[in-house]
This record gives sequence, C-alpha cells and structure tokens, in this order.
Amino acid sequence: MLALVTEPAVPHSTRVDDVPEPIEDGVLLRVLEVGVCGTDREISEGLFGVPAHGASLVLGHESLAIVERDGHGFSKGDLVTATVRRSCHHCIACEEGAPDSCLTGDYSERGITRLDGFARELVVEDPEQLIPIPAGLGRLGVLAEPTSICERAIRHALTIGGRQPWQLERALVVGAGAVGMISTYLLRLAGIDVWTASLEPSSDLATASGARYVSTKETPLAELRKETDGFDLVISAVPDAQVMADSLGLLRRSGVACLLGIDGRPQAVSIDGPVLGLDAILENRVLFGSVNAHRQDWLAAVASLDRARERWPEALEAFVGLRVPLDRFAEAFAYRGVKATLVLQD
Ligand code: BGC
Repeated sequence: MLALVTEPAVPHSTRVDDVPEPIEDGVLLRVLEVGVCGTDREISEGLFGVPAHGASLVLGHESLAIVERDGHGFSKGDLVTATVRRSCHHCIACEEGAPDSCLTGDYSERGITRLDGFARELVVEDPEQLIPIPAGLGRLGVLAEPTSICERAIRHALTIGGRQPWQLERALVVGAGAVGMISTYLLRLAGIDVWTASLEPSSDLATASGARYVSTKETPLAELRKETDGFDLVISAVPDAQVMADSLGLLRRSGVACLLGIDGRPQAVSIDGPVLGLDAILENRVLFGSVNAHRQDWLAAVASLDRARERWPEALEAFVGLRVPLDRFAEAFAYRGVKATLVLQD
C-alpha cells in the first residue's frame, strides 16, 4: 500500500513509497485525510524527527480515519482520529496517562518520533488512543489535532492565570496559521474579546469569528499594547523567538503568555530590561510554553470544533484551503494558508 515516507535527518528524502500492510493487533483504520503542519515540513527538511524502523518514518500526525471492521468497542464506518504522543513507560506523568507532560523525553510520537504516522492507506491503532469524531463534523475532523494543541494551551493558561484572582477578558493571538486561527476561534467560543495579529494585510477568517484583526505591518505589537493597555492572555503561534520574547511585554497585570510556535534557529533574542526585571515581577506576569495534548484536550477539541462548525459553518469549511492526493505532497508542504491536507480516500 502507498505511504508518505521520509528519512529523518536526510533533507528532501520525502517520497510516496510502497509499505507493507499493518498486521499488528488493534483497530484497523482506513485513513481518509492527514493534515500537514510546520513539523512535517521540518522533518522533511531534515531538521526534526526520529526514524520508526531502520532509517525511515511514515509521516502524518494529524489524522482523520474510518474504522474498517468492528471490534474493540468500535464499529465499521466510525469516524475517528488518534492521539500523537505515546507513553515513555518510565515517568510519573506517562504513568498517569499524561505523555503530553512526559518527564524523560523518551516518548514516541506518531509520524514524528520513533513511530510511523498516518499518511498511509491503512493503519492499526491501539483502541485507547482513538478519539471518536461526531459524524456531523465530517472531514473537519482532520482539524482535531491542531485543535487539541490549542485546547491544552488555553487549559494550561487558565490554570496558571487562575492561581490568583484573575479574569480573562482580552486576548491577543499572534499568528494566523492553523494554531493561531483555531486559538482565535476557541477563545471567541468562550466569549473572550480577541485580537488576532499577523503580517498579512487582512484576515476574513479572523474577523468572521468576531475577533479584531491587526496587521503587524501597519500596527506594530508594541503600539497595540499602548492602544489597548495590554492583554490578559497572549498566545504566540509564530515561528519567531523574538516575537515570543516580546509577548511578556504585551501583558497587563497578572497576564499570561503562552508560546506555541517553534523556532529552533541558533540566535540571541532581546528582551526589554524593565519588562523582565520590573513589570513581570510587580505585575505577576507569566510566560510559559506548551506542547502536545492530553486525552482530555482531544475530547474538548472535538466538542469545540463541532460547536464552532454550528456557529460559523462557512468559516470552518474555509480552514482547509488545499486538499491534494498523496503524490502532490510537495504542494501541500508549500501551502501557506491556514491548513493543507493530503487526501488518501474521498
Ligand atoms: C505536534 C505535537 C508534537 C510536537 C513536537 C507538533 O507539530 O502537533 O503533537 O508533540 O509537534 O513533536
């Protein structure tokens, strides 16, 4: 059967290849669609990822699949997605079912680290890792994985903010890719006053949710800080460490900034002295990072996506701007809209 295979650490080795059909025990799934994200691009450029066996890895961690035969509590035809990160089996977080908080780094991740992904026709999955997708959500279920990342980030931000009396009223989301846009929609669902900022001149998708859109080419974020008096929450979803460092200065009292974009470039970034040495302390501000998602975030993600689809049906449909078959993966990787996917089955 066909799969999108790569050799991590070997740039541009990604190709469609023939791989054996799965024979393990578990739930047999037929993959419908996989989403493509920055991590897939980085693996493909040889910058990230660990092979699953030998030197190769099947890509794809944002999955939407259909159950192929009854069993393990699932019925043929059920729509499902599956978690990405799996237990290291030797830390207290993984033992508690929270590999998103793994303490050793010895976890595996579907399509990323030591475990083949979903960009192939058939996969056998552990039933405990499956997340049911409501039939009404249909192909939008492919957004469950990036949504789970945003759910976790917001859940953690609320926990951190809630360590003291605090109200989340005004949020800034920096970045209008999938994670930025989904975060915008989740915060709008919760009734938060959201500002979404990116380099693009405009974003119909952001404003469709009721968020205010700011083009940072016209209004630098520091100016927005002055205009608004700062934010209770900043979600930084751009691959730029300087923008991430700047987010501490965009907060108001007791504000929380969450970093989600990845930027591994070796570089020094600067931070304003009084923002770090004075405001962060005197105003009880927090800057934290978040990765991956707990099962509870996956379940919340699917429920939120379904609510968002009911409220903004056209906008949600527009999130996936490019759907191409597996052999056109290069187009999906080059796509710079919110989300591109690879379709394995219509
Ligand atoms: C995925 C996460 C994963 C992270 C690090 C992200 O693209 O969404 O599930 O933990 O990469 O590998």
